Amino acid sequence: MARVEVQLPTKQYEVQIENGLLQQIGGLIEQTWPSRQVALISDTNVAPLYQADITEQLVRHGFQVREYTVPAGEASKAWPVIADLATKMAGDHFTRSDGVIALGGGVVGDLAGFVASIYMRGISFIQIPTSLLAQVDSSVGGKTAIDLGEAKNILGTFYQPDAVFIDPTTLTTLSDRYVAEGYGEIVKTAALDSTDFWHLTEQINSIDDIRSHATELSQRSIGYKARIVMADEKESGQRQLLNFGHTMGHAIELLAHGKLAHGEAVSIGMVHLMQVFEDLKLASTGITAAIKERLQAVGLPLDSPLLGTAAFYDKIKNDKKNKNGKLNLVYLQAIGQPAIYSIPTDQVQAFFNEQTMD
Ligand SMILES: NC(=O)c1ccc[n+]([C@@H]2O[C@H](COP(=O)([O-])OP(=O)(O)OC[C@H]3O[C@@H](n4cnc5c(N)ncnc54)[C@H](O)[C@@H]3O)[C@@H](O)[C@H]2O)c1
Repeated sequence: MARVEVQLPTKQYEVQIENGLLQQIGGLIEQTWPSRQVALISDTNVAPLYQADITEQLVRHGFQVREYTVPAGEASKAWPVIADLATKMAGDHFTRSDGVIALGGGVVGDLAGFVASIYMRGISFIQIPTSLLAQVDSSVGGKTAIDLGEAKNILGTFYQPDAVFIDPTTLTTLSDRYVAEGYGEIVKTAALDSTDFWHLTEQINSIDDIRSHATELSQRSIGYKARIVMADEKESGQRQLLNFGHTMGHAIELLAHGKLAHGEAVSIGMVHLMQVFEDLKLASTGITAAIKERLQAVGLPLDSPLLGTAAFYDKIKNDKKNKNGKLNLVYLQAIGQPAIYSIPTDQVQAFFNEQTMD
């Protein structure tokens, strides 16, 4: 079993990663929580694949289980879905000593984590991430959120789980497209972390390579994220580094209206940003080509006609991460050497236009 420890001032928990882990999930949860009622929250794609078996194991281990299923997709990260889940939990007499389990991708994790954090001012929470993006990124770090219309992740909390259980064999049922999108976040993390992790990604030349290296890739990605979160849980400093590729990525993700998955947009965002910083000679020569090569190897997109449009700059100017009229862009001086470049938000368009016109 691969393990990553997350030690925060108010909470310590472990991420356990192993092929076939779901076959012993009842016992693992029993080691984490005494018997209680649990809300097993999943979505319409994941529930038919994994929910019944997990429920059966939990019941065998003395838990009472309520299965709640939300429609698959980002649209479920919405207030009416939270209200519906909380209403069901209240109707089923959930108390503060009960628990919530998220079984699904990043959408279910964000949604279930948010409802767990506000129901009776917070009840226990466990993550069982089933998409690659959730296994390498979103299930760890404690950010929960829902969207308000176009405003992504605008309502949320910092709420850490009691444990995260990852079974990479769930990736066999995940579509190739979503395996690739999760890999976008892995490339981001490897580039931020070290040349050592970066070299590991040299072995990934197809989607199947991602599946077969998933345990190691998850352990490395989560290990890096855990170190950052342990140093800066609430994103007042170092945690900003995880936004590499995300400022541009979020803007085109929003403009694509659901046609680009999160990791696809981040892939385009990293390439666009690094080309500008390499042209400025703030990044080492050839770094953009190296990042492109990794992303291209699994078919991730590198460019978009949405980049550089007026609507694109408008989204960047209104990004919720802007502070005091400034935008902090995370870029890489070299692999494993991230840095922050701060520009006034009203100069962003001029800054990028100048670089891209040369
Ligand atoms: N909290 C954080 O720190 C954080 C970080 C990054 C992203 N996110 C959020 O994560 C979300 C994106 O996550 P995602 O890409 O996992 O999206 P998702 O949860 O929508 O999952 C992608 C698709 O795969 C399906 N799926 C998941 N696991 C499966 C499996 N094993 N087999 C078959 N189908 C499966 C889902 O039903 C869905 O259709 C976004 O809402 C984003 O804002 C959160």
